Parts: sequence; structure tokens; C-alpha cells
Amino acid sequence: MLPYDFSLNTMPQKLRVGILCGGKSAEHEISLLSAKSITQALSKQKYDPVILGIDTQGKWYRIDTKDLLALPNDAKKITLPETKKEIVIIPGNEKKSISSPSGDLMCDNIDIIFPILHGTNGEDGSMQGLLQLLDIPFVGPNTLGSAVGMDKDICKRLLRDSKIPVSKWQTLRIDENIPYRELENYLGYPVFVKPANAGSSVGVRKAKNRAELAESISHAFLFDHKILIEECIIGKEIECGVLGNIGNMKASTLGEVIPTHEFYSYEAKYIDENGAGTEIPANISSQATETIQKMAIKVCQTLECEGMSRVDFFLTKDEQIYINEINTLPGFTKISMYPKLWEHAGLSYPDLIDTLLLLAIERHKKKKSLSTKMNNS
Ligand SMILES: Nc1ncnc2c1ncn2[C@@H]1O[C@H](COP(=O)(O)OP(=O)(O)O)[C@@H](O)[C@H]1O
Ligand SMILES: [Mg+2]
Repeated sequence: MLPYDFSLNTMPQKLRVGILCGGKSAEHEISLLSAKSITQALSKQKYDPVILGIDTQGKWYRIDTKDLLALPNDAKKITLPETKKEIVIIPGNEKKSISSPSGDLMCDNIDIIFPILHGTNGEDGSMQGLLQLLDIPFVGPNTLGSAVGMDKDICKRLLRDSKIPVSKWQTLRIDENIPYRELENYLGYPVFVKPANAGSSVGVRKAKNRAELAESISHAFLFDHKILIEECIIGKEIECGVLGNIGNMKASTLGEVIPTHEFYSYEAKYIDENGAGTEIPANISSQATETIQKMAIKVCQTLECEGMSRVDFFLTKDEQIYINEINTLPGFTKISMYPKLWEHAGLSYPDLIDTLLLLAIERHKKKKSLSTKMNNS
């Protein structure tokens, strides 16, 4: 069952889909795993995949589809294949082609790009800006939504303005004095300290006293020049997938993440195999479910996050809801939370990919229909 009315048969002839993966990010490997999963699931009748890999230095390569598919399904072992060929891709190029650095054409007419990159340079609007300049439709939020969604401080300000509940917080910049007394009076202990722009719980620490707070602040400043100090919310961690463009967004089944560590830390996410369990659907009341689903859509509308996003919440014992954060390009392997939530809602992994591609085309067409001239009478 598709949550959209448009038919999958409305696609033009076979689409050439660029799968953009890897990247200069802490989540390089999970991106490669997601790219492999997506490529495996793409219908051969409808799509012609072109794998575009970015290495950890930021260099771009064309990767043979069969070489991507042969990579191990293990985040600790997966790397870009040796057979990769360096490429360049230039804005303003009408043929939407990729070439070798010496100018030899390698492939043209890329119809659409599925960027499955995470964190800085992938999920923060910079890549989306490049894709916009290339004038190729792409999956996931646009430049603005991605940039806003990445910065936890800006995000919280916009959500607060839309009356969406966020935890109390204070922002601190690296060159400011640390107002310990003020922070303690406003937020109490424990608090969470986190970089404004990061992900995967990198730089996130829980502090229970002033000494730990000082240490956590120094640690968070290693990753960003702007950090957040937040009150600690005790509750379930609930995640909701949102799919669709502005005006037609749908919310998925909800899932719960149950960390076995003190919180959902980097270790719990990636190092300890038993670091967290998940429950789909989340075992919460139908009223809380409905409220969170509505709120997730409102979050995406407020932050201009079209296409897809996963919105993460806290639900306290007395059913208070707080939004924690938004992930604009969430993990996308077959077993990642976002596809799993949609699968439970009745949308299979291949149908979810079809829908995302269609949404990208729909948004691109709409944007192209706008005038770029002054006197358009
Ligand atoms: N204010 C908070 N109260 C309670 N737990 C928190 C709070 N902020 C973060 N956490 C815990 O830290 C984890 C990582 O923080 P999060 O803001 O989601 O960063 P990231 O973008 O790196 O995932 C959360 O999943 C949660 O377990
Ligand atoms: Mg998180």
C-alpha cells in the first residue's frame, strides 16, 4: 500500500539514478551499507543505478555497481572498492554527465540522485546546494531544510517559535565565559552537553555535577564552536518517519529505541552490539502515538524538511512529549529504523525508494515551474 495517489507507472522510461554515498563523515561506512541496500532493492526494469562514491578525503569516484554489491555487509570492514575511478561533475552541464578529471565522458543523463550521506558535508545542506546547482532532482530535504535540521540550536529556536515542545537549553560559544551558576539555576543536574552540529552522539555527554559539566563542555567544543547544554529529559526515546513534500506529508508507525547504556551514546549505537534494542510499534498509548505523529509532520513543515526525515522524541511517564532532534537523511539499510517504520506502516523497502524518487521529481518539477525573470507577464 502506497501512502500516495500517484502511480509508480507515471515514471518516464528507465531512470538513471545516481546513488551518492560514502563521504567525509563519521558515518561513512553506514552510508556505504545503505547505498548497497538501496542499489540491491532498485528494480532493474525501472532503474539504471550509477554509483557515485566519495572517499573520506572528499574525492569523488564512479563505482561499478557489481563492485558495490560485492562489498561486505559489515560496517567494520566496508570501504570504497579499489576499482573506483575518479570523476568530476560540473554545475551548468546540460547533459548532467560525469567525466574523468581529464575530461573523458564517463556517463551522461543522470535523471535523479539519491544522496545517502550523513552528517557534515552530506546532510547539512552543502551537498544539497551542489545538487541544486547541478539541476538534478534529489531525494530528501533541500538546502535550507538540511542546514536548519543539522543545527540543533537553530532547530530548537524555530520549533519553539512554532509552539512545538523542546527541552530547556542554553547555547554556548567557544569564546564565551561559561556561566556555571546561571546554567545550574536554569537547568539543574544532570544536563546533556552536545555540539550544535554533529551526529551519531559524537561529542554528546551527560554531566551530573560541575566538574563533569566543565569536562563535557571542553569535550563538546572539540567538535563544534557552538554547543548546547540541555536539561535532562527522562523518558522513552520514540522515533517517527515522515515522508512527503510540504502539503502532503505522512507519518509512519512509531518505534522505540531502548539503549542498554546510560543513554544512546556512540558506543551504544556503533560499538556495543547489544547497545540498544528497538520496539516497533512503540508500546505507548494510542493518544501519545497520534500526538507524536501529528507533531512529527508539523516539525518537518516548520523546518522545511521535504522528502524524508526521521523525527526523534522523548515521551515522559506522564506523557509529556518533547522533540529531541530531526535527522534529514537517516540510516537507510534494510534494517535501519526509517525503512523499518515504513515497512510496518505497509510500505515495503522498494516501494519506499520508488516513493522517495517520485517525491524528488515532483518537487524539482514544481520548482522549475517558477519564474526566474522579473517581468513575467
Ligand atoms: N536532553 C536530553 N535528555 C535526555 N537524553 C538526552 C538529551 N539529549 C540527548 N540525549 C541522549 O543522547 C542521545 C544523543 O543525542 P542527540 O541529541 O540525539 O544527538 P545525535 O544527533 O548525535 O544523535 C539521545 O539519543 C539520548 O539518548
Ligand atoms: Mg539522535
